[in-house]
Amino acid sequence: MVPMLKDPTLLKQNAFFVNGEWTPAKSGKTFEVRDPATTKLIGTSAECDVDDAQAAITAAEEALPSFRAKTGRERSKLLRKWYDLMMENADDLAALITWENGKPLADARGEVTYAANFFEWFSEEAPRAYGDTIPTSVPGNRVFTIREPVGVCGLITPWNFPAAMITRKIGPALAAGCTVVCKVPGETPYTSLAIAELSVRAGIPKGVVNFITTLDNTPRVGELLATSPSIKKLSFTGSTAVGKLLMKLASGTVKKLSFELGGNAPFIVFDDADIDVAIAGALASKFRSSGQTCVCANRLYVQEGIYDEFARRFAAEVEKFTIGNGFEDGITHGPLIHERAVSKVEEHVRDAQSKGAVCVVGGTRGDAGLAPGTFFMPTVLTGMSADMTLATEETFGPVAGLFKFATEAEVVRRANDAEVGLAGYVFSADAARIYRVAEALEVGMVGVNTGIISDTASPFGGVKESGFGREGSKYGIEEFQTIKTVTLGGMGKPLQS
Ligand code: SIN
Repeated sequence: MVPMLKDPTLLKQNAFFVNGEWTPAKSGKTFEVRDPATTKLIGTSAECDVDDAQAAITAAEEALPSFRAKTGRERSKLLRKWYDLMMENADDLAALITWENGKPLADARGEVTYAANFFEWFSEEAPRAYGDTIPTSVPGNRVFTIREPVGVCGLITPWNFPAAMITRKIGPALAAGCTVVCKVPGETPYTSLAIAELSVRAGIPKGVVNFITTLDNTPRVGELLATSPSIKKLSFTGSTAVGKLLMKLASGTVKKLSFELGGNAPFIVFDDADIDVAIAGALASKFRSSGQTCVCANRLYVQEGIYDEFARRFAAEVEKFTIGNGFEDGITHGPLIHERAVSKVEEHVRDAQSKGAVCVVGGTRGDAGLAPGTFFMPTVLTGMSADMTLATEETFGPVAGLFKFATEAEVVRRANDAEVGLAGYVFSADAARIYRVAEALEVGMVGVNTGIISDTASPFGGVKESGFGREGSKYGIEEFQTIKTVTLGGMGKPLQS
């Protein structure tokens, strides 16, 4: 199915967005973008290379002095206008998300609101970049601080939230007074480019936001953003492996960094939990975007007293899911992004089965009547153990592996036995236990009796190899600011008579 956009001019093909203009790649090359539900061609996009990315960096550098000189209130109005335009064009943005990412239309609509909210939120933060006055230890000195924009920022975003991951970075960057070069995901460029087009209509000045599209040249463009001395801050959402590489590359220019990397979220259900709430939370957390989010439950630990009942009732709910093309009514779950993702999920399932796990639901590829090789059946595995790949690696797919545990101390130890620490979930009716476990989990975010924790107002980010820095919330803007200390000497003289 090919969606009809209300405003077809939002579909930008074969050009990237630099200095307020739509421009083909210097090489003239393009790459194909395909609908993951059908694998049919959606269109082609400019295959940018380092020359194109350098042009974007230069445009962002030239736009910086006048943009940072604007008042916070002026920048706030621009972001607010951009938010309004996203909401006015929500149907088209959602259609683009479903088309190129595959998530069901209702989820895509939810993502548009989530994404636009970052512009609204940071439009409200922009005028509030307060500094401090600081009582100094040197008599006669007076000290105050100014929050300044860090400068030109490189932003690299993933395909799983084609709208929200980019607005979560651009919103605070612009609120702080920075200008940006965004490397948008090759799998899902059209949503980002539609948002770029709306920036023109919102009156964002030329060069303040620049969008680079590339598929094959992604490593080269990423390297330029990480090494260019003109880029003062790099914000990246993606895998831990790529994050480590970018961190090494960025060390040459000692850039400010924030990284939101992979997770392997433990989801813990205690015997005293409300089982209906825990099942609803697990369904939402595990199967959101067909399991393709960094905060999806990956290891579901269920205490032995309710394990069997939880497994039976949870599996019965998962069996009700309907996979298919996200544009069709009644579809609860779409495809995975590409065949490689399906192969990885399949490997995790086969590995678990070969080590003794039992597949209660799913466990195979699904053709959804479309047979493009990008679907995997929502799956529940029981009898999971720590030696299985799923226990140590993020599956990023619709597979729920249920691990049995006996005690609180044991499950916390097993949950923390991971190199990463993004999200964790706890289900219990005991307030003291909730505090104990939430405090003991080595993660950046804990959901208690809920499977959905993402909210514009809440700080988003991880610990350990899940990265550092926080997005959204009152903290998000700080990632794009530096604090300048101003010390005034000779201020302690007596009043003149
Ligand atoms: C992510 O998967 O990286 C983001 C998920 C979210 O914002 O909820």
